[in-house]
Amino acid sequence: MRRKLVIGNWKMNGSLAANSVLLRGIVAGNAARNADCAVCVPSPYLAQCQAELAGSTVAWGAQDVSAYAAGAYTGEMAASMLQDFGCRYVLCGHSERRAYHHESNELVAQKTHAALDAGLTPVVCVGESLAEREAGRTNVVVCAQLQAVLDVLENPALEKIVLAYEPVWAIGTGKTATPALAQEVHAALRKQVAERSPAAAAKLQILYGGSMKPENARDLLAQPDIDGGLIGGAALKAADFLAIVHAAD
Ligand code: 13P
Repeated sequence: MRRKLVIGNWKMNGSLAANSVLLRGIVAGNAARNADCAVCVPSPYLAQCQAELAGSTVAWGAQDVSAYAAGAYTGEMAASMLQDFGCRYVLCGHSERRAYHHESNELVAQKTHAALDAGLTPVVCVGESLAEREAGRTNVVVCAQLQAVLDVLENPALEKIVLAYEPVWAIGTGKTATPALAQEVHAALRKQVAERSPAAAAKLQILYGGSMKPENARDLLAQPDIDGGLIGGAALKAADFLAIVHAAD
């Protein structure tokens, strides 16, 4: 039985003062026993997470990582630096990074590799655009995104990643994939991993992201291949985020 995992992706939101209220609210209200939860925050606030969340049931992580270990890469953050601040998770290849920072499937794969090398759990994000879905290319697109990662990882490493399916057309739009539609893509992704390693596929947590909210979380999380959520907007309010965590529980 795979544990459920709910991760809040704060994107570029927050301040020291607001984060403090939000983090304390999440810690105080998290009563989940069978589900794990984490927040992925803007990197300047990782030290704050370490101070506020250490010893709690809430893990934390970053939203991006460099593919390189160290050196002349202005503005980048090495996986070892994230590790220094106690991160457990790092998002790799979120669609906003793919779109606005031109991250290719290959670069996302290198970042995933770098995260694993430093002992972090990469949360590899895949998802199709509306045009791709309407053209019937959803599985082709997400499977190519996943394949680039499979190509650079050996089997033991493959067992340590988390996958997130986030249809781009559902992010921040209020349009959620129906549970059946999300399940279909999750099952296709798991099958693709199973072709390489049935053991890794059986363990793999595949999160759904895209307008997941307290009102729709339960139905999505009831699907056999949906192992949790990657939450944007609803992760910025402790009550909403906790309602999703408890639905997963
Ligand atoms: P929303 O929940 O705001 O749609 O964002 C989803 C997302 O992109 C999480 O990474």
